[in-house]
Amino acid sequence: MTAAARALRQKASASTTDPALAEFEADVIAGFRKPQKALSPKYLYDEAGSILFEEITDTPEYYPTRTEMSILRERAKEIAALIPEGAAIVEFGSGSSKKARILLQAVGPLSAYVSVDISAEMLVEEAKTLRRDFPGLNVVPVVADFTQGFELPREAADAPVRVGFFPGSTIGNFEPHAAAAFLRNAADILGDGALMIVGADLVKPAGILNAAYNDNQGVTARFNLNLLTRINRELGGNFDPSAFEHHAFFNRERSRIEMHLASLKKQKVRIAGETFDFRMGETIHTECSYKYSIESLAALARGVGWAPVKAWTDRQGLFSIQAFRFDAGTGVRQKNAQ
Ligand code: AVJ
Repeated sequence: MTAAARALRQKASASTTDPALAEFEADVIAGFRKPQKALSPKYLYDEAGSILFEEITDTPEYYPTRTEMSILRERAKEIAALIPEGAAIVEFGSGSSKKARILLQAVGPLSAYVSVDISAEMLVEEAKTLRRDFPGLNVVPVVADFTQGFELPREAADAPVRVGFFPGSTIGNFEPHAAAAFLRNAADILGDGALMIVGADLVKPAGILNAAYNDNQGVTARFNLNLLTRINRELGGNFDPSAFEHHAFFNRERSRIEMHLASLKKQKVRIAGETFDFRMGETIHTECSYKYSIESLAALARGVGWAPVKAWTDRQGLFSIQAFRFDAGTGVRQKNAQ
């Protein structure tokens, strides 16, 4: 296609009027031009994808969600004991606030619970039910992409201390350098003396990990393949999802689960006016899910000024909840030092 023809076609597409759609299109095109085709895992969560993820958490193989919930329930009092009266809790990517509720039931009076999420609709709905269920609680929803940085609402900024809450092993979706950047950015937002409570999946034998991302009912496969359906619908792609296969495996060397979509044949796919060639067996890398040890996450956090305070796991050592404290006086990232 000539540049002029492409410009014409672009003009007609919805992506020129919807910035989120334009970003999706740009990310797909840039990602699929790479030698290893790749796309950010955040695109797995359209409406269908979010429902499928919820279904994954109900499969017998996918242990992280239920294990994290059970650690939270069992340790809520101990975790709450670290949170001083009048603190503000700031949850990064709050979704349904299902996990925060367990904490909120155990903590003393707070100045605010700030839920940060990109989905405005979900946030407003959840804020309503939280206010009903926790009548004394000041619920402050903030619509933002927490990876980009955002302004803290006054209630939280004025609190004596802020407590970050980042459950769900979402930290595992970042490359380690990006996880460190996230924690450093969170320190800037939350300030001196802040606490950070992170849920992280733990390294373990490959058999358990591989099963968790290759459930028998094929829910994870549908979750992964839904990305192609989403590209077809939103970007006018012509993927045949049945010509691709879900691949997920533990890469021990890099301590991560990799999720891919593998082409079952040599084929061409058109997306937003561009043609992409797939060799037989060629993959689109759709997700990384890094697995940490208590020590490896502590080392990463320490590197950006967060000191390990306490860590909890389940009896089998499958999952962890780890608490860190940020003290500019002792951190390596002191801005005005030297
Ligand atoms: C929501 C990012 C924690 O990495 O385990 C589940 C997503 N991907 N099955 C994870 C996911 C495939 C999940 N997180």
